[in-house]
Amino acid sequence: MFSGCSVSSKAGTGAAAAAQFNAFSSSQITFPKGFFWGTATAAYQIEGAWNEDGKGESIWDRFTHTAGRIKNGDTGDLACDSYHRWREDIALMRAMNLNSHRFSISWPRVQPSGSGAANSKGLDYYSRLVDALLEARIRPFVTLYHWDLPQALDDAGGWPNRDTAGRFADYVQLVAQALGDRVTDWMLFNEPAAFVDLGYLEGRHAPGHKSLLDFLSATHVVNLAQGAGFHALKAARPGARVGTAFSMSPCEPASNSEDDKLAAERAHAITNIWFLEPALRGRYPEALTFLPEAAMGIKSGDMEKTRAPLDFVGVNLYYRTIASAPGAMERAAHAQEWLFPVKMEGGKQGPKTDHDWEVWPKALYDMVVRITRDYNRPVIEITESGCSYNDGPDATGAIHDTRRIAYHRAYLAALARSMADGADVRGYHAWTLMDNFEWAEGFGQRFGLAYVDFKTQKRTIKDSGRWYAKVAAENRVGR
Ligand code: FCB
Repeated sequence: MFSGCSVSSKAGTGAAAAAQFNAFSSSQITFPKGFFWGTATAAYQIEGAWNEDGKGESIWDRFTHTAGRIKNGDTGDLACDSYHRWREDIALMRAMNLNSHRFSISWPRVQPSGSGAANSKGLDYYSRLVDALLEARIRPFVTLYHWDLPQALDDAGGWPNRDTAGRFADYVQLVAQALGDRVTDWMLFNEPAAFVDLGYLEGRHAPGHKSLLDFLSATHVVNLAQGAGFHALKAARPGARVGTAFSMSPCEPASNSEDDKLAAERAHAITNIWFLEPALRGRYPEALTFLPEAAMGIKSGDMEKTRAPLDFVGVNLYYRTIASAPGAMERAAHAQEWLFPVKMEGGKQGPKTDHDWEVWPKALYDMVVRITRDYNRPVIEITESGCSYNDGPDATGAIHDTRRIAYHRAYLAALARSMADGADVRGYHAWTLMDNFEWAEGFGQRFGLAYVDFKTQKRTIKDSGRWYAKVAAENRVGR
């Protein structure tokens, strides 16, 4: 309810969408020298080896092993087997001429029960990966938490439990000490708004809670953890550059009415800056009709602790959101709508991906421009953008995923426009390197620039991966 908008509707290819593609896909667009061209992945989605070399159980292991949670009963037990095939994966990145790769560290792989001593075998895996990336002249761009909380910490209350913030800071320090001699660029969290919403309120992701109270307390604990993690990392490695990858989606009012405009601002507050505003300004944005401080567990002095002067803002962006105000009757009927009187859904004018997400390049332009304006031109990294199209190999084994090329071309053109209008954007990371385990969707959604045959684990670069290789090599997007 509080994030995302995968509402289905009939695909439209109206004039507005077509005009936008034209507007954002002019001839040649050159990016600044040193621009980072990368891919993004996450540990649980690619590594497999869920119980090898001393790794502890994560909430995603537990969740996927519970019947009925994931489409088709899929699990990430094996995923892309990247724990063993990481050399092949780096070869894919080299073939795509990348100079940055965003990946995440599995907390229970390096600290099996979420506290105490490190599992040296787990740390060794990431250490080898970092060395090999550096040797390939690819920046290791590391996410510390991409959703796989140690199960032991969930057993002790998980993100709604205030102690978890301290556990997170200890874990961050442990990883910074082990890898921070070679890794300089870090993200504390991946999409806090998404995992707190989907995991604690909607229950569609691990650990599967459906509780407004858990959502509220997890919000605050994650904000405290962001502050504590930031300071732990800087203490261990003062030269580190530290951000978070936020899920973002520009929120447009459904109509010109004042109610819908207010709803759109509330939607923006909870979707885009619910975890950014506490970090940069030490306060919660005005998303809710009132801030339920007691229910959130906010104590005196806490908002100072949430502060984290991030070195960059990571933007994960796929689509826009349309917001409207519910009627009085609806508000009266549901406590949640009373607290957050907003309806959010996806746009309906653009073409749809196979995941039913609207393709709307202007969303990236609008979001980047707004963050630039509202936060005094911060450094921005596009930490994810991409699309699911389930194109497979033809008779010759080639994968002609032309719609994915069109997506990235148009989103990059929109990004270039935002940079021309003043945004300080340093890199673009396509989600994702190769098809992988897409959370509740299992293996049913393919977002990769490389195709993975999950029976044989064979990787094949798609046409989009070849196209992206050219973009990265030339540092420009052509037609
Ligand atoms: C984002 C997640 C990422 C992936 C893409 C499709 O919300 O950060 O792990 O699932 O969506």
